[in-house]
Amino acid sequence: MIQKQINTTIEIYDSVTELPGEIQKLMQSAVEARESAYAPYSKFMVGAALILDNGEIVKGSNQENASYPSGLCAERTAIYAAGANYPNQKIKVMAITATSAKHDVLEPIAPCGACRQAIAEYEQKQEEPVEIYFTGSKGKVIRVKALLDILPLAFDNKFL
Ligand code: THU
Repeated sequence: MIQKQINTTIEIYDSVTELPGEIQKLMQSAVEARESAYAPYSKFMVGAALILDNGEIVKGSNQENASYPSGLCAERTAIYAAGANYPNQKIKVMAITATSAKHDVLEPIAPCGACRQAIAEYEQKQEEPVEIYFTGSKGKVIRVKALLDILPLAFDNKFL
């Protein structure tokens, strides 16, 4: 038996104002995206915004459904919109933010496992990392340089 340690590095910023201007703008797009969330069941509104190689910004928000599993997270809504509408553009950065009608969201909201898997697919497709920034409705922001940093031992098409 051997043991291997998996290390990852995250950056934690006290507030969005510490981020580069371009990223603050992208986070503002994610806040705007949150407004279009359809979350009548959870009352938890998530916004995601991506910036593409050509400078285009693509937004997504969570879309819920009375049949709960049919809903989709903001991150996948955004990344699939980018994949469908700009199939040849690389996705450079994703910003994620969330708010709730029930409580303050003071911790950074990390993408769920299924969204990490979906984003990882695009990292592989474009052979370049997707940098990710996530936050709550205010306060700290976490940055990871690549999605795979938060999805170790990922399943991908090399196994197929
Ligand atoms: N949600 C997202 O949009 N992104 C995540 O990464 C986690 C959860 C949504 C799904 C659902 O509409 C609501 O938040 C509560 O889980």
